[in-house]
Amino acid sequence: MTTPATNTDVDRSARVAGDNRRKILEATMKRFQYQGDALIEVLHKAQELYGFLSPELLSEVAQRLRLPPSRVYGVATFYHFFSLAPQGEHTCTICLGTACYVRGASLLLHELEALSGVKAGHTSADGRFSLLTARCLGACGIAPAAVLDGEVIGHADRSDLTARIRALLGHEE
Ligand code: FES
Repeated sequence: MTTPATNTDVDRSARVAGDNRRKILEATMKRFQYQGDALIEVLHKAQELYGFLSPELLSEVAQRLRLPPSRVYGVATFYHFFSLAPQGEHTCTICLGTACYVRGASLLLHELEALSGVKAGHTSADGRFSLLTARCLGACGIAPAAVLDGEVIGHADRSDLTARIRALLGHEE
């Protein structure tokens, strides 16, 4: 079972924190004078504050910076360092950019989906594992590339990566 991000995740955590994150985000946008050019910096701050970029946050940023929502969403989905879903205790990002794709990244992704029971872009219901994708990790020379818990893995090998993830999740061989 997987859990997609919802608007209410942010609302719930905001209520619990009782919280000034919206004010901090607003101050960041104000510091950049609500310029559309500051979109990436603003999205970084939003993710730092909330842990991920919910549809609600993206639409608020679009409104405040007077940008089309499609542009904000496009930037948030293009860069691998932005996450649109809450992340699990362990995360694995598989690059699906052209260089990685032609070297078997989609097969690798399907294998990890089958192994973990988590669909790409989602987190397991127990919050232990997130399986994410990127369009280019900037490591095309070592394609296919993946990032496992922050470690960039080049020439990602299916059996090696699945073994490492099995070990992290405590799965039997
Ligand atoms: S396409 Fe995968 S690292 Fe660039």
